[in-house]
Amino acid sequence: MPTPVSPVADHLPEQLADLAASIAHSVGIRVRQMREGGVSLTGTKSSPTDIVTAADEEAERLIVRALVEARPQDGILGEEGASREGTSGIVWVIDPIDGTVNYLYNIPAYSVSIAATVSAPGAFFDGRRAISGAVYNPVSDELFTAWEGGGARCNGSAIRISDHGDLATSLVSTGFGYMVEDRTLQADVAAKLLPRVRDIRSLGSCAYDMCLLASGRLDAYYESGVHAWDYAAAALIAQEAGAMLLGRDDDTPPGGPLLVAAAPALAPLLRAAVTP
Ligand code: IPD
Repeated sequence: MPTPVSPVADHLPEQLADLAASIAHSVGIRVRQMREGGVSLTGTKSSPTDIVTAADEEAERLIVRALVEARPQDGILGEEGASREGTSGIVWVIDPIDGTVNYLYNIPAYSVSIAATVSAPGAFFDGRRAISGAVYNPVSDELFTAWEGGGARCNGSAIRISDHGDLATSLVSTGFGYMVEDRTLQADVAAKLLPRVRDIRSLGSCAYDMCLLASGRLDAYYESGVHAWDYAAAALIAQEAGAMLLGRDDDTPPGGPLLVAAAPALAPLLRAAVTP
């Protein structure tokens, strides 16, 4: 006899997406309010350009508090150091402000990113995949959400990638790491790609970039050196909107070494153009 499926487990990804969305929204509003009082820098990480603000730290504290209250059995991994072991198998991967440099300069392209992930060896570079996620840009008031198998949405309406398959007429977005050595290589790759595409954008928030891709406002995105908290939620949103995600080669899952996202016809062409 088949094991009955619990209705709660059945709807869990959707419920977790709702939770992620509600926390990303409320914390995003707070992040935007804090910006009105100016930005206070509290430190740097990998290089002097890799900054941390008081708002990053406060936002991470608020997200962790809300998650622990709602789901005390889950683990948490946050960009600003949050780390909590769980027992449920679900680990929340959070970026309190993705696009911190934009936040510093008051450029309206930063977002709060929250994903519920499960262990899935080989799925992404860090061996986990998101089952639910939300990315909120509090300046544009765009709340992107997805759960596995449920499609992707912006402010509740279904979104879809551009389905563009031609590299030469693609608008491609990318980002740059904070380390000089990484940037030297990234600049080289971008310089070679630029004559081969419609144009390149660098918007400064991996999560927001991938949500724009998910809503058809960019044709492709690639970056090397991204961290799980940058892409965990947005990669699911892009995938659920129809994007194909690729890593450096067929044996390497998307993630740190390279993350390429685009329509299935375009992703392999872009990967070939950005790998030596
Ligand atoms: C950064 C942004 C940027 C990307 C960097 C990330 P942060 O995240 O997503 O677009 O190019 O690789 O580190 O530091 O603003 O959270």
